Amino acid sequence: MLLRIVVCQPVAHSAVEQLRAIGDVTVWPGPGPVPTPLLKSWLASADAVMTMLTERVDQELISQAPKLKIAANMAVGYDNFVVAEATAAGVLLTNTPDVLTETTAELAWGLMLALMRNIVGARQALLAGQWTHWSPDGFLGAELFGKTLGIVGLGRIGQAVARRAPPFGMRVIGLGTRGQFDCPRYDWEQFLAAADVISLHVPLNPETYGMVNQAWFQRMKPGSYLINTARGPVVDESALLEALDSGHLAGAALDVFATEPIGRDNPLATHPRVVATPHIGSATLETRTAMAERAAQNIVQALHGQRPNDLVNPEAWPGRVAEGV
Ligand code: DGY
Repeated sequence: MLLRIVVCQPVAHSAVEQLRAIGDVTVWPGPGPVPTPLLKSWLASADAVMTMLTERVDQELISQAPKLKIAANMAVGYDNFVVAEATAAGVLLTNTPDVLTETTAELAWGLMLALMRNIVGARQALLAGQWTHWSPDGFLGAELFGKTLGIVGLGRIGQAVARRAPPFGMRVIGLGTRGQFDCPRYDWEQFLAAADVISLHVPLNPETYGMVNQAWFQRMKPGSYLINTARGPVVDESALLEALDSGHLAGAALDVFATEPIGRDNPLATHPRVVATPHIGSATLETRTAMAERAAQNIVQALHGQRPNDLVNPEAWPGRVAEGV
């Protein structure tokens, strides 16, 4: 019987071709995410769906998809999946780890440099005609060299950020003991008191939701910086604004927000000590192609009865008993 596959936004041609080799593929042409009513109608006959972080995969959606075997996210984060509900319905869930690790680490460093060296503010001043002369105190930023970089979440991306620190002359410290990177590990209060820059690399889950809150900012070193390329809801945005406005925090660079997209008048986007970008951690042509191909590969594997490489809910794998998973 013909396999039917839905792709929720236009993705690399190579990935669509992988899917066309095994079935009938419907790609939402955009712009923007596929409207939910249309997605539901497509899922009525779909065996697989390639989702983006814009599609919430929960019981309500799955109940419209009686034949669905797999939802393959084109993202490493999968907080748009309600894992327990998909698992209960026997739907396999996958993500795209590894392929965006270095790309996201590059963005974290780009943001750190842009923020601390005042690159964005200086460019804006130039464009506003404010570069009238060179002066000793003009467009000052802060040096990275000699500073301590605190990494929250030493998984794949956190480690890739940490590996780039020595050439910049920065010392790395980690929060807690999880993750495999050889650096001093501190508990919460010591960590916040020691880091000059904190970069977040944790997934969004009940443990991390709102983790960076008022108490957190109060314990951060005065004059320190926050970088977030993970997920917006990890940070309490009102507490962040308060910490910026009081001057306790020197600045923040944010690629992710509590609710996305944000408008140009969002108080974080317009804040003079914030560098804001529109969720571009994985946004290179190479990486977005690799992500789409990896998601397609997970679909091909699942529809061929193979265990997908990037399965995030192994409990839903029908062969789990035989395999002892
Ligand atoms: C992810 O993969 O989780 C990013 O946020 C989007 O690339």
